[in-house]
Amino acid sequence: MTSDAIKVATPQVGEEEAEAVREVLLSGLYVSGPRVGEFEKEFAEYIGTKWAVAVSSGTSALYIALEAFGVGKGDEVIVPPMTFFATVSSVLYIGATPVFADIDLDDLCLSPQSVKQKITPKTKAIIPVHLYGAAAKMDEIKAIAGQHGLIVLEDCAQAHGTAYKSQKVGSIGHAGVFSFFATKHMTTGEGGIITTNDADLAEQSKVIRNHGMSGRDDHIRLGFNNRMTEMEAAIGLVQLKKLEELNRRRIENSETILSKVRELPWAHVPVPQDAGRQHTYFWCPVMVKPESGKEINDLKKHLRHYNIGFRERYKEPLYRQPVLKRLGLDYSEEYLPNVEKIAGNVIGLPNHPGLSRNDLDDIINILHKF
Ligand SMILES: Cc1ncc(COP(=O)(O)O)c(C=O)c1O
Repeated sequence: MTSDAIKVATPQVGEEEAEAVREVLLSGLYVSGPRVGEFEKEFAEYIGTKWAVAVSSGTSALYIALEAFGVGKGDEVIVPPMTFFATVSSVLYIGATPVFADIDLDDLCLSPQSVKQKITPKTKAIIPVHLYGAAAKMDEIKAIAGQHGLIVLEDCAQAHGTAYKSQKVGSIGHAGVFSFFATKHMTTGEGGIITTNDADLAEQSKVIRNHGMSGRDDHIRLGFNNRMTEMEAAIGLVQLKKLEELNRRRIENSETILSKVRELPWAHVPVPQDAGRQHTYFWCPVMVKPESGKEINDLKKHLRHYNIGFRERYKEPLYRQPVLKRLGLDYSEEYLPNVEKIAGNVIGLPNHPGLSRNDLDDIINILHKF
């Protein structure tokens, strides 16, 4: 057993972030100040969009973008069933209906073929999720959306800095959304952002995040309080400067581990190998080959025994979540073969930028013992 637990994720935050927050606290200006604006400008520049709108979480970014696009009651939105539930709940919140399409086995992201089959006259938008840090097949998804006049909203909550061909995700569809939750590539504690080249979408998103207000007293549409604080933006500004280096270490750690995992006869690594997609390894994903005679549950026990943390989402296709039935939606007939194969069968190994060479060796050696 390794003496100290190796955690699957830890925020990479230090004195600089602490000092940035201290400055804000002592300034007395906590909301709607200059740091949020500065963070938006720098994040948009990093992703390669004209605009970014900072909000209180990745979930509010999804909800606000859909609302600002005018998606609502009677509309269908195509989503993958292998993602965090917020991708689905944001669609439900605006009164639209989630329609599940299957994933591809090479990247575990939305399958363009399956998306095509799920389009109906009611379809209004597609939400490709760049799962675990892998870019979804954006050319194909955009082409389908273009043929049918659909909105493409990229869920980049697990993909800060992930690239598809020459573009960063979040700049390819009509808009992108990111989360800055504590375990992400970069964090603001809680927080999120919408990226877009659409000036009207950016403007409407700003209105929605601030009680639907235009100016001081006019509530021109239904909004909420989804603002980012100055403290969060101050952390974000420091983290954004570190992101490329944090990603470089995350990628290096993941590739060091996975190059060895690929040699193990029981292991399958569901990471796309084609050139032109820069994976940023939110997860360092590993599966157990069914034909190997080994079981994923035994691998989990083995890792627990050796004090190695791991991620184990998503255990079930999301169309089986009990809340859907409670809302009167019937997905009992839904059976998407690839997601059925994958859900519950992937784990994420520790790969965060704070791991030492010894940690990586421990992880590799322990996997060899399985
Ligand atoms: C794919 C995906 N979408 C949306 C979200 C929601 O982000 P947040 O937790 O910031 O609300 C997450 C968060 O984990 C996520 O992984």
